[in-house]
Order: sequence, then C-alpha cells, then structure tokens
Amino acid sequence: MGFFSFRQDLAIDLGTANTIIMKDGQIILDEPSVVAFDKRTNEVLAVGTEARKMYEKGHAYIETIRPLKDGVIADFNAAEQMLRSLIKMINKRNRRLFAPSLKLVICIPSGSTEVETRAVHDSGEQAGGREVYMIFEPMAAAIGIGLDVLAPEGNMIVDIGGGTTEIAVISYGGIATKQSIRIAGDEFTMDIMEHLRRAHNVRIGERTAEDIKINVGSALKELNEDAPEEYTIWGADQMDTLPREIKINYTEIAGCIDKSIVKIEKAILDTLEATPPELYGDIVKNGIYLTGGGALLRGLSKRLTDRFGIAFQVPDDPLHAVAKGTAVALKNTDNFNFLIR
Ligand SMILES: Nc1ncnc2c1ncn2[C@@H]1O[C@H](COP(=O)(O)OP(=O)(O)OP(=O)(O)O)[C@@H](O)[C@H]1O
Ligand SMILES: [Mg+2]
Repeated sequence: MGFFSFRQDLAIDLGTANTIIMKDGQIILDEPSVVAFDKRTNEVLAVGTEARKMYEKGHAYIETIRPLKDGVIADFNAAEQMLRSLIKMINKRNRRLFAPSLKLVICIPSGSTEVETRAVHDSGEQAGGREVYMIFEPMAAAIGIGLDVLAPEGNMIVDIGGGTTEIAVISYGGIATKQSIRIAGDEFTMDIMEHLRRAHNVRIGERTAEDIKINVGSALKELNEDAPEEYTIWGADQMDTLPREIKINYTEIAGCIDKSIVKIEKAILDTLEATPPELYGDIVKNGIYLTGGGALLRGLSKRLTDRFGIAFQVPDDPLHAVAKGTAVALKNTDNFNFLIR
C-alpha cells in the first residue's frame, strides 16, 4: 500500500450522549457528543470533553451544540463538524500528516427513517469516509456482548442510551421484532430537573440533574443492596433566587423517574407480545440483555426481572457494548449482509 493511499478503518458509535471511536478492536476515543462553535466565525472551538465544559455555561460568542437528539442527528452541520473534529483529534494524536481515506461503520437507531439514515451516511462521507456502512444499534450491542447473531436462536437486547431505548429480538442475522422509543437516559435527567422545580422550587441545569441521576438514581423505591447515600446539591430558589441546599435521596429520584421507566416497560411488553413463540421460548431461557448507560441505573435489572419474570442481565461494560459490536462489524463487512450501505 502506498504512502498516500493509506486507509484507516474506524467503527463509530455516534451516540446522543457519547461518541466512541474504535480502531483495531480498541477504543481510541470516547468523548461527549458536544461541539462548540464561535458564533462570529462559525469555526469549531472545541469538541468532546472540552466543549462539554462550555455547555450551558452561557457565553457571548460561544455556542455549544449537542448535534444528536433522541438518537438521531438533529443538527446536520454540527454533527458533521463534530465527527470531522473527532477524527482529526485521532490523527493529531498519531502525528499523522495526511488524512487517510476512511472505511467507516457507524451505528444508527433501529427506528431510523430513510432520511435519518442518509443523514448519518452523508456525515460519514463528509468527514472523509470513502466506504461508509451502517449497523442498527441493538444488532451492534448483541455482537458487542459476544452473542452469535447469525445463530438460529432468539436473543433480546434492551439498549437504554441517552436519547433512545432500543429493544430488539435478534435471530438468524436479522432483527425479528423491534421497538425504538425516544425515552432513555436524557428523559430521566429531564424528569429530575422538573421534579426539583416542582417539589423544591429550585432550578438546576442538565449537568447537575445528570449528576443526581448517576449518584442517587434508582429504578426502585427500596434498594436492599448498594443503596447510595444522600446527595447534596445547590440550586437557585425560584422565588427569591437565593442559593438553596437540597439533600436528595434515591427513593425520591425513583419516584420522579418512575413514569419514564413505565414507558420503557410498556415498550418491552409490546416487543415481547410481537415476538414469535419459538423465539420467545429462547428469550425466556437465555434471559434479556440490558446495555447502554441506562443499564447502570440502580435496581433496574431487578425491577425488570420481577416485572416480566424473565432474567434481565447486565453484561460487563454495558456502556461500550454498541461500540464494540460496531468494531466487530467493521472486520466483517464482507459477511455481515445485514449492514446497510
Ligand atoms: N451510572 C449511571 N446511572 C444511570 N445512568 C447513567 C449512568 N452512567 C451513564 N448514564 C446515562 O447513560 C446515558 C448515556 O448512555 P450511552 O452512552 O449508552 O448513550 P448514547 O449511546 O450516547 O445514546 P443513544 O444510544 O441514545 O444515542 C446518559 O443519559 C447518561 O446520563
Ligand atoms: Mg447508544
């Protein structure tokens, strides 16, 4: 291979919350999906962690954007710029002088419309992709946790990300039944913001609400094991704008995110109902796999196991399941005919 025809193969989990890039089966980049622009020149000022620090901080000429909303590209230009900057970041770290031609596999929500699918494809091409493939997220998650997706055996994945919850039954290299709902981690965060406004009269930002979720979030009002300590935050009182200290416990958070979890349960139920009986039998036997950042919510797998009478299990490293599976797909673009071009 000549020097100038160098090709780089990358697998990209373009998530609502985080973008992960893998190369040769290794995670080489894991950054929040945020990009910051200079409003005056439209230049990219920062991307990833650096841009997230600027997020919601309010600045005269800095505009921070999360290009994905509900699992899909909401701002096409920002998504493209973000992808381009992240890929540049990799090349800079490797001190590469010339931008190599790229072969990319990018994951997309299983409920993506044709327009949304095309938007991801085009962003990949605009960011330098010569060969761009796409894979449905739950399929990638299944591969990522080591399931044999080509086997004639039904397996169910519930991937709770930031923007979407993807539920799918996979068998024979295809998706037999699926549901993709726009209720996931970000919705829990919104529930928490709303709850603090209503119950405590305090306004908090998205980042503080997410901290509350991670520190004292729970799917159950009563946790037997690993119950977290109370968590203290400061917010501005809505009446007099004076600082207020608030102590929050997990039971309170379980109460305020309950309605969103109920919606996820409903979607799981609908998917199970639509599952052919033979595959349903496999699922009862194998259990259901929970992936994505939402899988880390305390008490969730127990709540779902009790609710459905089927064992819900959280594999190691659920946050990276989709990315890992996308990386496996990258190596198998010739024999995984479920990839989308
Ligand atoms: N310990 C935790 N407890 C609860 N939620 C968590 C935890 N850690 C991360 N999360 C949440 O998980 C979500 C991010 O998960 P993930 O990285 O799987 O999403 P994504 O792939 O970027 O989004 P999507 O797949 O919807 O596009 C965020 O909403 C984050 O707040
Ligand atoms: Mg995801």
